Amino acid sequence: MVKICCIGAGYVGGPTMAVIAIKCPAIEVVVVDISKPRIDAWNSDTLPIYEPGLDDVVKACRGKNLFFSTDVEKHVAEADIIFVSVNTPTKTRGLGAGKAADLTYWESAARMIADVSKSDKIVVEKSTVPVKTAEAIEKILTHNSKGINYQILSNPEFLAEGTAIEDLFKPDRVLIGGRETPGGQKAVQALKEVYAHWVPEENIITTNLWSAELSKLAANAFLAQRISSVNAMSALCEATGANVSEVSYAIGKDSRIGPKFLNASVGFGGSCFQKDILNLVYICECNGLPEVANYWKQVIKINDYQKSRFVNRVVSSMFNTVSGKKIAVLGFAFKKDTGDTRETPAIDVCKGLVGDKAQVSIYDPQVTEDQIQRDLAMNKFDWDHPMHLQPTSPTAVKQKLDYQKIFDNMQKPAFVFDGRNVVDAEKLREIGFIVYSIGKPLDGWLKDMPAVA
Ligand code: NAD
Ligand code: UDX
Repeated sequence: MVKICCIGAGYVGGPTMAVIAIKCPAIEVVVVDISKPRIDAWNSDTLPIYEPGLDDVVKACRGKNLFFSTDVEKHVAEADIIFVSVNTPTKTRGLGAGKAADLTYWESAARMIADVSKSDKIVVEKSTVPVKTAEAIEKILTHNSKGINYQILSNPEFLAEGTAIEDLFKPDRVLIGGRETPGGQKAVQALKEVYAHWVPEENIITTNLWSAELSKLAANAFLAQRISSVNAMSALCEATGANVSEVSYAIGKDSRIGPKFLNASVGFGGSCFQKDILNLVYICECNGLPEVANYWKQVIKINDYQKSRFVNRVVSSMFNTVSGKKIAVLGFAFKKDTGDTRETPAIDVCKGLVGDKAQVSIYDPQVTEDQIQRDLAMNKFDWDHPMHLQPTSPTAVKQKLDYQKIFDNMQKPAFVFDGRNVVDAEKLREIGFIVYSIGKPLDGWLKDMPAVA
Protein backbone atom coordinates (compact mmCIF):
# COMPACT_ATOMS: atom_id res chain seq x y z
CA MET A 1 0.00 0.00 0.00
CA VAL A 2 1.40 3.40 -1.00
CA LYS A 3 1.58 5.75 1.97
CA ILE A 4 1.16 9.47 1.52
CA CYS A 5 1.87 12.03 4.22
CA CYS A 6 0.99 15.69 3.78
CA ILE A 7 2.69 18.27 5.98
CA GLY A 8 0.27 21.18 6.51
CA ALA A 9 -3.45 20.69 7.20
CA GLY A 10 -4.59 24.04 5.80
CA TYR A 11 -6.84 25.23 3.00
CA VAL A 12 -4.79 23.26 0.48
CA GLY A 13 -3.45 20.26 2.43
CA GLY A 14 -6.82 19.30 3.96
CA PRO A 15 -9.09 19.33 0.88
CA THR A 16 -6.40 18.04 -1.51
CA MET A 17 -5.60 15.03 0.62
CA ALA A 18 -9.26 14.31 1.34
CA VAL A 19 -9.86 14.11 -2.41
CA ILE A 20 -6.81 11.87 -2.99
CA ALA A 21 -8.11 9.60 -0.20
CA ILE A 22 -11.62 9.33 -1.59
CA LYS A 23 -10.40 8.72 -5.13
CA CYS A 24 -7.65 6.24 -4.17
CA PRO A 25 -9.04 3.83 -1.54
CA ALA A 26 -5.86 1.73 -1.77
CA ILE A 27 -3.66 4.63 -0.66
CA GLU A 28 -3.28 5.58 3.00
CA VAL A 29 -3.23 9.35 3.42
CA VAL A 30 -2.18 11.06 6.64
CA VAL A 31 -2.34 14.82 6.99
CA VAL A 32 -0.06 16.16 9.72
CA ASP A 33 0.29 19.60 11.25
CA ILE A 34 2.07 21.23 14.16
CA SER A 35 -1.15 23.00 15.10
CA LYS A 36 -3.06 20.79 17.53
CA PRO A 37 -6.28 22.85 17.37
CA ARG A 38 -6.27 22.48 13.58
CA ILE A 39 -5.80 18.71 13.71
CA ASP A 40 -8.42 18.39 16.47
CA ALA A 41 -10.85 20.30 14.27
CA TRP A 42 -10.14 18.03 11.27
CA ASN A 43 -10.95 15.08 13.54
CA SER A 44 -14.18 16.68 14.80
CA ASP A 45 -17.63 17.40 13.39
CA THR A 46 -16.70 21.02 12.74
CA LEU A 47 -13.87 21.12 10.21
CA PRO A 48 -11.43 24.04 10.50
CA ILE A 49 -12.31 25.43 7.09
CA TYR A 50 -15.56 25.85 5.22
CA GLU A 51 -15.69 24.51 1.67
CA PRO A 52 -18.86 23.34 -0.05
CA GLY A 53 -18.77 19.51 -0.27
CA LEU A 54 -15.73 19.09 1.98
CA ASP A 55 -17.64 17.64 4.95
CA ASP A 56 -19.03 14.78 2.86
CA VAL A 57 -15.65 13.86 1.40
CA VAL A 58 -13.90 13.91 4.78
CA LYS A 59 -16.66 11.96 6.50
CA ALA A 60 -16.60 9.31 3.77
CA CYS A 61 -12.94 8.39 4.26
CA ARG A 62 -11.77 9.69 7.64
CA GLY A 63 -10.68 6.77 9.83
CA LYS A 64 -10.55 4.47 6.77
CA ASN A 65 -7.70 5.68 4.58
CA LEU A 66 -7.63 9.34 5.63
CA PHE A 67 -6.12 10.39 8.96
CA PHE A 68 -5.22 13.68 10.63
CA SER A 69 -2.42 13.69 13.18
CA THR A 70 0.05 15.86 15.07
CA ASP A 71 2.56 13.02 15.11
CA VAL A 72 4.44 14.64 12.26
CA GLU A 73 7.70 12.70 12.51
CA LYS A 74 6.16 9.23 12.71
CA HIS A 75 4.03 9.69 9.61
CA VAL A 76 6.77 11.40 7.62
CA ALA A 77 9.12 8.53 8.43
CA GLU A 78 6.57 5.95 7.24
CA ALA A 79 5.53 7.70 4.01
CA ASP A 80 6.59 6.94 0.44
CA ILE A 81 5.34 10.27 -0.90
CA ILE A 82 5.47 13.43 1.24
CA PHE A 83 3.49 16.47 0.15
CA VAL A 84 4.62 19.72 1.72
CA SER A 85 1.71 22.14 1.88
CA VAL A 86 2.84 24.56 4.55
CA ASN A 87 2.20 28.29 4.38
CA THR A 88 4.60 30.48 2.39
CA PRO A 89 3.56 34.03 3.32
CA THR A 90 5.28 37.24 2.28
CA LYS A 91 8.35 38.02 4.39
CA THR A 92 7.66 40.79 6.87
CA ARG A 93 11.26 41.51 7.88
CA GLY A 94 14.82 41.09 6.70
CA LEU A 95 16.06 40.68 3.15
CA GLY A 96 13.21 40.96 0.64
CA ALA A 97 10.70 42.05 3.33
CA GLY A 98 7.32 42.96 1.84
CA LYS A 99 7.96 40.96 -1.32
CA ALA A 100 9.89 37.70 -1.04
CA ALA A 101 8.24 34.48 0.09
CA ASP A 102 9.01 33.46 3.67
CA LEU A 103 10.30 29.90 3.39
CA THR A 104 10.89 29.39 7.12
CA TYR A 105 8.09 26.82 7.43
CA TRP A 106 9.21 25.03 4.29
CA GLU A 107 12.79 24.86 5.42
CA SER A 108 11.91 23.51 8.85
CA ALA A 109 9.69 20.87 7.22
CA ALA A 110 12.56 19.87 4.90
CA ARG A 111 15.04 19.63 7.78
CA MET A 112 12.60 17.48 9.73
CA ILE A 113 12.16 15.16 6.72
CA ALA A 114 15.94 14.84 6.48
CA ASP A 115 16.18 14.07 10.19
CA VAL A 116 13.51 11.39 10.48
CA SER A 117 13.62 9.59 7.13
CA LYS A 118 14.94 6.04 7.00
CA SER A 119 13.74 5.07 3.51
CA ASP A 120 13.67 6.65 0.02
CA LYS A 121 11.14 9.47 -0.38
CA ILE A 122 9.41 11.45 -3.05
CA VAL A 123 9.02 14.99 -1.68
CA VAL A 124 6.35 17.02 -3.43
CA GLU A 125 6.21 20.82 -3.33
CA LYS A 126 2.50 21.56 -2.98
CA SER A 127 2.99 25.01 -1.48
CA THR A 128 3.51 27.87 -3.90
CA VAL A 129 7.23 28.62 -3.83
CA PRO A 130 9.75 30.78 -5.70
CA VAL A 131 11.37 29.27 -8.80
CA LYS A 132 14.42 27.21 -7.89
CA THR A 133 13.14 26.34 -4.39
CA ALA A 134 13.44 22.66 -5.29
CA GLU A 135 17.18 23.16 -5.67
CA ALA A 136 17.45 24.54 -2.13
CA ILE A 137 15.26 21.76 -0.75
CA GLU A 138 17.38 19.16 -2.53
CA LYS A 139 20.45 20.61 -0.86
CA ILE A 140 18.87 20.45 2.60
CA LEU A 141 17.69 16.88 2.09
CA THR A 142 20.79 15.44 0.50
CA HIS A 143 23.16 17.21 2.86
CA ASN A 144 22.27 14.70 5.61
CA SER A 145 20.92 12.02 3.35
CA LYS A 146 22.38 8.99 5.12
CA GLY A 147 22.29 7.23 1.75
CA ILE A 148 18.58 7.91 1.31
CA ASN A 149 17.38 8.79 -2.18
CA TYR A 150 15.14 11.88 -2.33
CA GLN A 151 13.31 12.95 -5.46
CA ILE A 152 11.82 16.43 -5.38
CA LEU A 153 8.75 17.16 -7.48
CA SER A 154 6.86 20.38 -8.01
CA ASN A 155 3.10 19.83 -8.05
CA PRO A 156 1.52 23.26 -7.53
CA GLU A 157 -2.14 23.47 -6.56
CA PHE A 158 -4.58 25.46 -8.66
CA LEU A 159 -7.76 25.09 -6.57
CA ALA A 160 -9.71 28.21 -5.72
CA GLU A 161 -11.32 28.59 -2.31
CA GLY A 162 -15.08 28.21 -2.29
CA THR A 163 -14.87 25.70 -5.15
CA ALA A 164 -11.96 23.59 -3.85
CA ILE A 165 -13.72 20.23 -3.96
CA GLU A 166 -15.18 20.86 -7.42
CA ASP A 167 -11.75 22.02 -8.66
CA LEU A 168 -9.99 18.99 -7.16
CA PHE A 169 -12.52 16.51 -8.57
CA LYS A 170 -12.29 18.02 -12.04
CA PRO A 171 -9.06 19.97 -12.38
CA ASP A 172 -8.39 21.84 -15.64
CA ARG A 173 -4.95 20.30 -15.35
CA VAL A 174 -2.56 18.70 -12.88
CA LEU A 175 1.00 19.91 -13.24
CA ILE A 176 3.99 17.79 -12.22
CA GLY A 177 7.56 18.99 -12.61
CA GLY A 178 10.56 16.78 -11.96
CA ARG A 179 14.24 16.32 -12.70
CA GLU A 180 15.01 15.12 -16.21
CA THR A 181 16.93 12.13 -14.87
CA PRO A 182 15.75 8.49 -14.79
CA GLY A 183 15.15 8.82 -11.01
CA GLY A 184 13.30 12.10 -11.48
CA GLN A 185 11.12 10.68 -14.25
CA LYS A 186 10.30 7.59 -12.19
CA ALA A 187 9.09 9.84 -9.37
CA VAL A 188 7.01 11.90 -11.82
CA GLN A 189 5.42 8.67 -13.02
CA ALA A 190 4.64 7.55 -9.44
CA LEU A 191 2.81 10.80 -8.68
CA LYS A 192 1.10 10.71 -12.06
CA GLU A 193 -0.31 7.30 -11.13
CA VAL A 194 -1.92 8.75 -8.02
CA TYR A 195 -3.76 11.44 -10.00
CA ALA A 196 -4.56 9.05 -12.84
CA HIS A 197 -7.11 7.40 -10.51
CA TRP A 198 -9.51 10.19 -11.49
CA VAL A 199 -7.83 12.75 -13.76
CA PRO A 200 -7.74 11.97 -17.49
CA GLU A 201 -4.17 11.42 -18.66
CA GLU A 202 -4.28 14.29 -21.16
CA ASN A 203 -4.97 16.67 -18.26
CA ILE A 204 -1.81 15.67 -16.40
CA ILE A 205 1.02 17.86 -17.65
CA THR A 206 4.62 17.00 -16.91
CA THR A 207 7.44 19.55 -17.17
CA ASN A 208 10.84 20.26 -15.73
CA LEU A 209 10.98 21.47 -12.14
CA TRP A 210 11.49 25.15 -12.86
CA SER A 211 8.66 25.37 -15.39
CA ALA A 212 6.25 23.84 -12.86
CA GLU A 213 7.34 26.20 -10.08
CA LEU A 214 7.12 29.26 -12.33
CA SER A 215 3.82 28.22 -13.93
CA LYS A 216 2.07 28.53 -10.58
CA LEU A 217 3.26 32.11 -10.06
CA ALA A 218 2.52 32.91 -13.71
CA ALA A 219 -1.03 31.52 -13.52
CA ASN A 220 -1.90 33.61 -10.48
CA ALA A 221 -0.25 36.70 -11.97
CA PHE A 222 -2.26 36.30 -15.21
CA LEU A 223 -5.52 35.77 -13.32
CA ALA A 224 -4.95 38.79 -11.08
CA GLN A 225 -3.91 40.85 -14.06
CA ARG A 226 -7.28 40.19 -15.72
CA ILE A 227 -9.06 41.50 -12.65
CA SER A 228 -6.88 44.60 -12.46
CA SER A 229 -7.46 45.17 -16.18
CA VAL A 230 -11.23 45.00 -15.85
CA ASN A 231 -11.11 47.09 -12.67
CA ALA A 232 -9.05 49.73 -14.46
CA MET A 233 -11.75 49.71 -17.17
CA SER A 234 -14.44 50.09 -14.50
CA ALA A 235 -13.01 53.48 -13.50
CA LEU A 236 -13.04 54.58 -17.12
CA CYS A 237 -16.60 53.28 -17.54
CA GLU A 238 -17.80 55.41 -14.64
CA ALA A 239 -16.08 58.45 -16.15
CA THR A 240 -17.57 57.93 -19.61
CA GLY A 241 -21.00 56.39 -19.08
CA ALA A 242 -20.00 52.98 -20.43
CA ASN A 243 -21.16 49.90 -18.49
CA VAL A 244 -18.37 47.55 -17.39
CA SER A 245 -20.62 44.47 -17.48
CA GLU A 246 -21.45 45.20 -21.11
CA VAL A 247 -17.78 45.82 -21.91
CA SER A 248 -16.74 42.55 -20.17
CA TYR A 249 -19.41 40.63 -22.04
CA ALA A 250 -18.42 42.14 -25.36
CA ILE A 251 -14.70 41.49 -24.98
CA GLY A 252 -15.23 38.06 -23.39
CA LYS A 253 -17.05 36.92 -26.53
CA ASP A 254 -13.69 37.05 -28.29
CA SER A 255 -12.57 33.46 -27.97
CA ARG A 256 -8.98 34.63 -27.54
CA ILE A 257 -9.99 36.58 -24.43
CA GLY A 258 -12.74 34.30 -23.07
CA PRO A 259 -15.56 35.20 -20.69
CA LYS A 260 -14.22 34.09 -17.29
CA PHE A 261 -12.60 36.20 -14.59
CA LEU A 262 -13.77 39.50 -16.02
CA ASN A 263 -16.03 40.64 -13.19
CA ALA A 264 -15.22 44.13 -11.99
CA SER A 265 -15.04 44.28 -8.20
CA VAL A 266 -13.89 46.26 -5.24
CA GLY A 267 -10.54 44.51 -5.77
CA PHE A 268 -9.19 41.00 -5.54
CA GLY A 269 -8.35 39.49 -2.17
CA GLY A 270 -7.32 36.12 -0.82
CA SER A 271 -4.06 34.72 0.44
CA CYS A 272 -2.57 34.03 -2.98
CA PHE A 273 -2.75 36.73 -5.64
CA GLN A 274 -0.95 39.57 -3.91
CA LYS A 275 1.59 37.32 -2.20
CA ASP A 276 2.44 35.45 -5.38
CA ILE A 277 2.76 38.58 -7.52
CA LEU A 278 5.02 40.21 -4.93
CA ASN A 279 7.08 37.05 -4.97
CA LEU A 280 7.25 37.19 -8.77
CA VAL A 281 8.28 40.86 -8.62
CA TYR A 282 11.06 39.99 -6.19
CA ILE A 283 12.32 37.16 -8.37
CA CYS A 284 12.38 39.49 -11.40
CA GLU A 285 14.32 42.11 -9.43
CA CYS A 286 16.80 39.49 -8.21
CA ASN A 287 17.30 38.38 -11.80
CA GLY A 288 18.06 41.92 -13.01
CA LEU A 289 14.70 42.43 -14.72
CA PRO A 290 13.31 45.69 -13.24
CA GLU A 291 11.04 46.40 -16.24
CA VAL A 292 9.35 43.03 -15.85
CA ALA A 293 9.08 43.56 -12.09
CA ASN A 294 7.42 46.96 -12.64
CA TYR A 295 4.97 45.50 -15.11
CA TRP A 296 3.63 43.03 -12.53
CA LYS A 297 3.78 45.54 -9.67
CA GLN A 298 1.19 47.59 -11.54
CA VAL A 299 -1.37 44.79 -11.07
CA ILE A 300 -1.18 45.32 -7.31
CA LYS A 301 -1.15 49.10 -7.61
CA ILE A 302 -4.43 49.05 -9.55
CA ASN A 303 -5.90 46.70 -6.97
CA ASP A 304 -5.00 49.11 -4.16
CA TYR A 305 -6.35 52.00 -6.25
CA GLN A 306 -9.65 50.18 -6.75
CA LYS A 307 -10.11 49.65 -3.01
CA SER A 308 -9.40 53.27 -2.12
CA ARG A 309 -11.50 54.47 -5.07
CA PHE A 310 -14.45 52.58 -3.58
CA VAL A 311 -13.98 54.08 -0.12
CA ASN A 312 -13.59 57.56 -1.61
CA ARG A 313 -16.78 57.09 -3.60
CA VAL A 314 -18.72 56.19 -0.45
CA VAL A 315 -17.35 59.16 1.48
CA SER A 316 -17.68 61.74 -1.29
CA SER A 317 -21.26 60.66 -2.08
CA MET A 318 -22.30 61.28 1.49
CA PHE A 319 -21.26 64.95 1.56
CA ASN A 320 -17.56 64.18 1.94
CA THR A 321 -17.85 62.71 5.41
CA VAL A 322 -19.15 59.51 6.92
CA SER A 323 -18.41 60.61 10.46
CA GLY A 324 -21.06 59.16 12.77
CA LYS A 325 -23.00 57.67 9.84
CA LYS A 326 -24.23 54.10 10.17
CA ILE A 327 -22.92 51.85 7.43
CA ALA A 328 -23.82 48.15 7.14
CA VAL A 329 -21.21 46.00 5.39
CA LEU A 330 -22.63 42.79 3.92
CA GLY A 331 -19.90 40.21 3.33
CA PHE A 332 -16.42 40.22 4.82
CA ALA A 333 -14.56 37.16 3.46
CA PHE A 334 -12.54 37.69 0.27
CA LYS A 335 -15.20 35.93 -1.83
CA LYS A 336 -18.40 33.98 -1.37
CA ASP A 337 -18.57 30.44 0.02
CA THR A 338 -15.49 30.79 2.22
CA GLY A 339 -14.78 32.05 5.71
CA ASP A 340 -11.23 33.02 4.73
CA THR A 341 -10.51 36.70 5.34
CA ARG A 342 -6.83 36.77 4.35
CA GLU A 343 -6.21 39.95 2.31
CA THR A 344 -9.93 40.52 1.90
CA PRO A 345 -10.66 43.94 0.35
CA ALA A 346 -13.30 44.31 3.08
CA ILE A 347 -10.50 44.98 5.57
CA ASP A 348 -9.26 48.02 3.61
CA VAL A 349 -12.78 49.24 2.95
CA CYS A 350 -13.86 48.95 6.59
CA LYS A 351 -10.66 50.51 7.86
CA GLY A 352 -11.07 53.36 5.37
CA LEU A 353 -14.63 54.01 6.52
CA VAL A 354 -13.74 53.72 10.20
CA GLY A 355 -10.80 56.03 9.53
CA ASP A 356 -13.40 58.61 8.50
CA LYS A 357 -15.27 57.83 11.76
CA ALA A 358 -18.20 55.88 10.28
CA GLN A 359 -20.16 53.53 12.54
CA VAL A 360 -19.68 50.27 10.72
CA SER A 361 -21.76 47.08 11.21
CA ILE A 362 -20.44 43.97 9.50
CA TYR A 363 -22.17 40.74 8.62
CA ASP A 364 -20.81 37.61 6.96
CA PRO A 365 -22.44 34.21 7.38
CA GLN A 366 -19.08 32.39 7.30
CA VAL A 367 -16.92 34.72 9.39
CA THR A 368 -17.02 34.90 13.17
CA GLU A 369 -17.20 38.15 15.08
CA ASP A 370 -13.83 37.33 16.69
CA GLN A 371 -12.15 36.96 13.33
CA ILE A 372 -13.54 40.28 12.11
CA GLN A 373 -12.37 41.98 15.30
CA ARG A 374 -8.88 40.51 14.85
CA ASP A 375 -8.67 41.54 11.21
CA LEU A 376 -9.71 45.09 11.92
CA ALA A 377 -7.66 45.51 15.06
CA MET A 378 -4.45 45.55 13.06
CA ASN A 379 -3.85 49.14 14.14
CA LYS A 380 -3.80 51.06 10.87
CA PHE A 381 -6.26 53.49 12.41
CA ASP A 382 -7.10 54.31 15.95
CA TRP A 383 -10.55 53.33 17.00
CA ASP A 384 -12.50 55.90 18.91
CA HIS A 385 -15.79 54.08 19.12
CA PRO A 386 -16.80 50.46 19.57
CA MET A 387 -17.29 48.23 16.53
CA HIS A 388 -20.86 47.22 15.89
CA LEU A 389 -21.09 43.65 14.73
CA GLN A 390 -24.19 41.74 13.75
CA PRO A 391 -24.75 38.30 15.23
CA THR A 392 -23.89 35.67 12.61
CA SER A 393 -27.03 33.58 12.94
CA PRO A 394 -27.34 31.07 10.11
CA THR A 395 -31.08 31.70 9.82
CA ALA A 396 -30.43 35.37 9.09
CA VAL A 397 -28.51 34.38 5.98
CA LYS A 398 -31.37 32.49 4.52
CA GLN A 399 -33.78 35.38 4.96
CA LYS A 400 -33.88 37.53 1.86
CA LEU A 401 -33.10 41.16 2.45
CA ASP A 402 -36.28 43.20 2.41
CA TYR A 403 -34.95 46.35 0.78
CA GLN A 404 -38.23 48.25 1.12
CA LYS A 405 -38.17 47.70 4.89
CA ILE A 406 -34.49 48.60 5.05
CA PHE A 407 -35.14 51.76 3.05
CA ASP A 408 -38.06 52.77 5.27
CA ASN A 409 -35.81 52.54 8.34
CA MET A 410 -32.89 54.48 6.90
CA GLN A 411 -32.05 58.17 7.03
CA LYS A 412 -32.57 59.84 3.65
CA PRO A 413 -30.98 60.03 1.19
CA ALA A 414 -30.37 56.29 1.54
CA PHE A 415 -27.41 54.74 -0.30
CA VAL A 416 -26.35 51.30 -1.53
CA PHE A 417 -22.74 50.84 -2.69
CA ASP A 418 -22.30 47.58 -4.57
CA GLY A 419 -18.66 46.47 -4.77
CA ARG A 420 -19.47 43.30 -6.69
CA ASN A 421 -22.36 44.23 -8.94
CA VAL A 422 -24.69 41.75 -7.30
CA VAL A 423 -27.75 43.86 -6.43
CA ASP A 424 -30.58 44.72 -8.80
CA ALA A 425 -29.76 48.42 -9.01
CA GLU A 426 -32.90 49.37 -10.98
CA LYS A 427 -35.22 47.78 -8.41
CA LEU A 428 -33.43 49.56 -5.59
CA ARG A 429 -33.67 52.87 -7.43
CA GLU A 430 -37.42 52.35 -7.81
CA ILE A 431 -37.62 52.01 -4.02
CA GLY A 432 -35.74 55.30 -3.67
CA PHE A 433 -32.13 54.31 -2.99
CA ILE A 434 -29.18 56.09 -4.55
CA VAL A 435 -27.19 53.17 -5.93
CA TYR A 436 -23.53 52.97 -6.86
CA SER A 437 -22.49 49.89 -8.85
CA ILE A 438 -18.83 49.50 -9.76
CA GLY A 439 -18.16 50.47 -13.36
CA LYS A 440 -21.80 51.29 -14.17
CA PRO A 441 -23.28 54.61 -15.31
CA LEU A 442 -23.63 56.87 -12.27
CA ASP A 443 -26.85 58.10 -10.67
CA GLY A 444 -27.35 61.87 -11.07
CA TRP A 445 -26.50 62.31 -7.39
CA LEU A 446 -23.17 60.51 -7.67
CA LYS A 447 -22.26 62.45 -10.82
CA ASP A 448 -22.63 65.66 -8.87
CA MET A 449 -20.36 64.38 -6.10
CA PRO A 450 -17.23 63.23 -7.92
CA ALA A 451 -14.92 60.94 -5.97
CA VAL A 452 -11.27 61.88 -5.85
CA ALA A 453 -9.07 58.77 -5.90
P1 NAD B 1 -2.59 27.45 5.61
O1 NAD B 1 -1.95 28.49 6.41
O2 NAD B 1 -4.08 27.30 5.61
O3 NAD B 1 -2.00 26.01 6.02
C1 NAD B 1 -0.65 25.75 6.24
C2 NAD B 1 -0.53 24.80 7.43
O4 NAD B 1 0.83 24.38 7.53
C3 NAD B 1 -0.88 25.42 8.79
O5 NAD B 1 -1.94 24.69 9.39
C4 NAD B 1 0.43 25.33 9.60
O6 NAD B 1 0.21 25.06 10.97
C5 NAD B 1 1.12 24.17 8.92
N1 NAD B 1 2.57 24.13 9.11
C6 NAD B 1 3.47 25.13 8.97
N2 NAD B 1 4.72 24.70 9.20
C7 NAD B 1 4.62 23.38 9.51
C8 NAD B 1 5.56 22.37 9.84
N3 NAD B 1 6.88 22.63 9.86
N4 NAD B 1 5.10 21.11 10.12
C9 NAD B 1 3.78 20.85 10.09
N5 NAD B 1 2.84 21.76 9.76
C10 NAD B 1 3.24 23.01 9.47
O7 NAD B 1 -2.06 27.66 4.12
P2 NAD B 1 -2.80 27.25 2.74
O8 NAD B 1 -3.78 28.29 2.36
O9 NAD B 1 -3.23 25.83 2.81
O10 NAD B 1 -1.59 27.38 1.73
C11 NAD B 1 -0.51 26.46 1.73
C12 NAD B 1 0.32 26.69 0.49
O11 NAD B 1 -0.47 26.43 -0.68
C13 NAD B 1 0.84 28.11 0.33
O12 NAD B 1 2.12 28.06 -0.25
C14 NAD B 1 -0.14 28.74 -0.65
O13 NAD B 1 0.45 29.77 -1.41
C15 NAD B 1 -0.48 27.57 -1.55
N6 NAD B 1 -1.79 27.65 -2.18
C16 NAD B 1 -2.88 28.10 -1.49
C17 NAD B 1 -4.13 28.13 -2.10
C18 NAD B 1 -5.35 28.61 -1.37
O14 NAD B 1 -6.38 28.77 -2.00
N7 NAD B 1 -5.30 28.83 -0.07
C19 NAD B 1 -4.27 27.67 -3.42
C20 NAD B 1 -3.14 27.21 -4.09
C21 NAD B 1 -1.90 27.20 -3.46
C1 UDX C 1 -6.79 31.89 -6.67
C2 UDX C 1 -6.69 31.16 -8.01
O1 UDX C 1 -7.93 31.30 -8.71
C3 UDX C 1 -6.39 29.69 -7.79
O2 UDX C 1 -6.20 29.05 -9.05
C4 UDX C 1 -5.12 29.58 -6.96
O3 UDX C 1 -4.84 28.21 -6.71
C5 UDX C 1 -5.26 30.34 -5.66
O4 UDX C 1 -5.59 31.70 -5.92
P1 UDX C 1 -8.64 32.12 -4.79
O5 UDX C 1 -7.80 33.27 -4.34
O6 UDX C 1 -9.04 31.08 -3.81
O7 UDX C 1 -7.88 31.34 -5.97
O8 UDX C 1 -9.99 32.68 -5.43
P2 UDX C 1 -10.36 33.37 -6.84
O9 UDX C 1 -11.64 32.81 -7.30
O10 UDX C 1 -9.24 33.34 -7.79
O11 UDX C 1 -10.63 34.88 -6.41
C6 UDX C 1 -9.60 35.74 -5.97
C7 UDX C 1 -10.14 37.14 -5.79
O12 UDX C 1 -10.44 37.73 -7.05
C8 UDX C 1 -11.45 37.21 -4.98
O13 UDX C 1 -11.39 38.31 -4.10
C9 UDX C 1 -12.50 37.40 -6.04
O14 UDX C 1 -13.65 38.03 -5.57
C10 UDX C 1 -11.76 38.26 -7.04
N1 UDX C 1 -12.32 38.19 -8.41
C11 UDX C 1 -12.34 37.01 -9.07
C12 UDX C 1 -12.77 39.35 -9.02
O15 UDX C 1 -12.73 40.44 -8.44
N2 UDX C 1 -13.26 39.27 -10.30
C13 UDX C 1 -13.30 38.11 -11.00
O16 UDX C 1 -13.76 38.12 -12.15
C14 UDX C 1 -12.83 36.94 -10.36
